[in-house]
Amino acid sequence: MPLIDNFKPRTLSLALALLAATAHNASAQEVALFPSGDPGLLTDPFLQNPSAKTVNVVWMTNFPGVEHKVLIDRSGGNSAAPAQPDSSIPRGTSPYRAETVKLERVFEDGASKLDNAPGEVMQRKVYRHEAVVSGLRAGEALQYWVQSRSVAGETFEAGPFRLQPLPAAGAPLQILLTSDQQERFNTLANYQKVAELFPELDAVFFAGDLANHPRRASEWFDNRRAAWESNPTASRPAFFPALQGTFENYVSTTPYTGGQILQNTPLFPAIANHEVSGRFRPNQVVEINGSPRSIAINDMFGDPQPRWYAEYRYDQAKDIVNPGGDPALREQWIRDNSNDFESYREIFTLPDDGPEGESYYTKTVGDVLLITMNVSRIWRTWNVGTKGKFSEHDYDLNNPEEWGFGEHIFTPFTDGSPQFDWLQGVMESEEFADSRYRVVMFHQSAHGLGDNSVPVLTDPQLSIDYIDEDGDTKTRRVLMPQNVALRKQVWLEQVEPLIGSITGVRYEYPIDQDYFRRDIEPMLQAAGVQLVLHGHSHVWTRAKAGDLHYLETSSVGNCFGAYWEQKDGTPWNGALRAAGSSFWNAVDAGDYDRRNYPRTGDPQDREPILPTLTNPMQEFGVTSGAVPFVCSNDISTFSILDTAMGIVRSFAFKVSDPGGDVLEFDRFSLD
Ligand SMILES: [Fe+2]
Ligand SMILES: [Fe+2]
Repeated sequence: MPLIDNFKPRTLSLALALLAATAHNASAQEVALFPSGDPGLLTDPFLQNPSAKTVNVVWMTNFPGVEHKVLIDRSGGNSAAPAQPDSSIPRGTSPYRAETVKLERVFEDGASKLDNAPGEVMQRKVYRHEAVVSGLRAGEALQYWVQSRSVAGETFEAGPFRLQPLPAAGAPLQILLTSDQQERFNTLANYQKVAELFPELDAVFFAGDLANHPRRASEWFDNRRAAWESNPTASRPAFFPALQGTFENYVSTTPYTGGQILQNTPLFPAIANHEVSGRFRPNQVVEINGSPRSIAINDMFGDPQPRWYAEYRYDQAKDIVNPGGDPALREQWIRDNSNDFESYREIFTLPDDGPEGESYYTKTVGDVLLITMNVSRIWRTWNVGTKGKFSEHDYDLNNPEEWGFGEHIFTPFTDGSPQFDWLQGVMESEEFADSRYRVVMFHQSAHGLGDNSVPVLTDPQLSIDYIDEDGDTKTRRVLMPQNVALRKQVWLEQVEPLIGSITGVRYEYPIDQDYFRRDIEPMLQAAGVQLVLHGHSHVWTRAKAGDLHYLETSSVGNCFGAYWEQKDGTPWNGALRAAGSSFWNAVDAGDYDRRNYPRTGDPQDREPILPTLTNPMQEFGVTSGAVPFVCSNDISTFSILDTAMGIVRSFAFKVSDPGGDVLEFDRFSLD
């Protein structure tokens, strides 16, 4: 318990809030620019948001340039391109010009994996070029190139690659199901094997966690350290080099270069915890846990606060920060003081016909209706006494401006939210009724044996210990309404008066309030969704609830553990969730309800399914018996939705054995 001298008087708390509010208004323009170096392409082109006759081609450079275009080969009319691009075919003569914008929310700092990383947060110069290629026909692929010309007249080119519009209904499709790249070395091997085995993929469904820290440009484009040349398996490949197969341009000794996938195949991602960054205050010196600290990219990433709380603080600070009442300034202030997925939004072009823009969307790809939800929340430590899942830092108990608010959900998705209403509308749509396969994709582990399927997906329930006027210790349980618009008032009435006298803050996640299980799963089952694809726990695990399949196929770059109770009642490998965390001591002390946090198994008792064809954990010598998961830092997995067969196929291989076999280990039918 904290000492009495940690208390801050109520008036000081408000004063600090106002001071912080004015200071938080830094804009990207106030951050110094990171030198670009020689002009060049930062990515190969990648395909986005195809329609029946068009596809968007996007690429990035480190210079603004004077002309950027896509060249298409139409030498044989609309003749199909060969499966493997053929550079002997001449470029087209009617280019599509690209529009160029500069990314605003991409930076570098001392933790950037670059040999010339700067000492403080600096803005990275990244220019995004996008052209809409039109006049396409379903089922026909064309070769294309991109060209960017600098002011000095130098031309940079990439290609040839293959583009095509959306496939028509009935077309046999192969769709990669994956997630969680996050600069993991093993992902290079994974995407390389995917590209070798499935060179003509039709789409990539990516259930989030693309880069690790989305505001750090090098994690998207060009992580590179000279030291990796002599130790390539220590490499931390950036997102685009891994998924475009260009990593050998950065580390020439790498045994794997990734797969040439995004150049030829449209990417459909979902927003995850690693797409969201917290409060925007680069290079500001802030007192954190009693010590002054200059805020860097990783600090901002780990510092989201709920949007409703930023709105509450805005109401207090608006006369200072926005005396003219400009609505755009209000919105920017609230985002800068809560969280955003701005870097992701800047990089990708996604369907935006839902009520909250690109946050969640649907897309019909041939016979598949993809329903991408935004089910994501901040990840925090299991340890207590700090800014974690279950507590606030002892030092900041009376300073909510530095609270973490537990593992709060970024965008509400449960009953009463715009996202829930949208999902309901999708289920009732003609598009839904007409689709043969319905896939719901999002990030958070809503099922399974992974470490992050516990605590369940619910709002953290707040309890506050405080000392009342008589000097007695009391506890107030604050029931935050599910409707976020009403939370400001509850905070004002029930929490604000206690500030200065708080001695403990606890968050509980009741297992019977699992929003996904309670509100979403029954709706998906009733509507006839066949597959839920998610990620986040970096494990292969699947289950079935009624006719609804769950698949997490995120053991791509590493594994965060599999927690499975064997038939004899002992945990596999002795593995218990969050072993060694101080949380369990607090549970033993009676501070939290043990029943909410199962240490093995699916939190809602969905039975884990054994792989149907073979058992990679056994085949590759990790376990002696068959187990219903794949979890190893040397085994990488991926899954393919094959619409011709109506099945989902899963594959595994050993990363340390580049010449080894890729095992198909599981199949299940969606029909
Ligand atoms: Fe992840
Ligand atoms: Fe995640």
